[in-house]
Amino acid sequence: MNKLGIIAGSGMDIPGLKFIEDITVDSKYGAPSEGYKHFRYKDTDLYFLRRHGVKHEIPPHKINYRANIDGFRKLGVEAVVTVSAAGGINGSLCPGDIAVTSNAIDFTYGRNSTYFDDMEVFHIDITEPFCPSLRRGILYSAAEAGVTIFDGGVYLCTNGPRLETAAEITAYSKLGADFVGMTLFPECALARELGICFANISVITNYAAGISDRKLTSDEVVDIMGKASERVNSIVHKIMDNPFTPECDCRDSLKGTKITNG
Ligand code: HPA
Repeated sequence: MNKLGIIAGSGMDIPGLKFIEDITVDSKYGAPSEGYKHFRYKDTDLYFLRRHGVKHEIPPHKINYRANIDGFRKLGVEAVVTVSAAGGINGSLCPGDIAVTSNAIDFTYGRNSTYFDDMEVFHIDITEPFCPSLRRGILYSAAEAGVTIFDGGVYLCTNGPRLETAAEITAYSKLGADFVGMTLFPECALARELGICFANISVITNYAAGISDRKLTSDEVVDIMGKASERVNSIVHKIMDNPFTPECDCRDSLKGTKITNG
């Protein structure tokens, strides 16, 4: 049996799967955003978590990322696919488009961003922040599902919860960002610390600030995410049709990275 985790953002649900149970996981890092919804589909146990909580009451900077990822570890999950809303910076991305993120820039601050902050120091390598096997699996599954998806894109993660100024988006564009969101960090780095395969699907829900002259609203983000859900869900179903076989070194992520003596 494969164990797959999904972390969903604003406005996403996952219909069409056999619901098994709601699981409350206690983590030594505190409480995850909500209970993990356990579903079964063919040979896969799927654990679903909304990072902003049941009613979307947790802002990006207050999400307990450590507890959320540690919860997946405790459930024995080997691979986590995250779905995020993002504002499009790269002009070739329009609202409603979906991308499998290929790299990322971290502009967050003040978040608990490591499991190793007490007596032991590890510097993990995240040159490639996403599992190459899982990314390939998503691309393959999207092709099988007949869903158009962009292969790649740099996600710049801000601290939020406010949106950006037009000047910030101009600067982020010059730094190489294709889209902007608020939740990828420290999510991806924590999964790497725990040796869990991790990849991200970003749904472009709006043009980033200043790219279009319209005011940005959360209603628009939730609306576009809802409309994209069906395509994302058909990719997730296909991922489970083709059981995931990791051909990566995510499990060995800590090898050679401890700098503390002893
Ligand atoms: N900026 C930051 N985060 C976002 C956006 C945005 O424009 N859209 C969805 N999440």
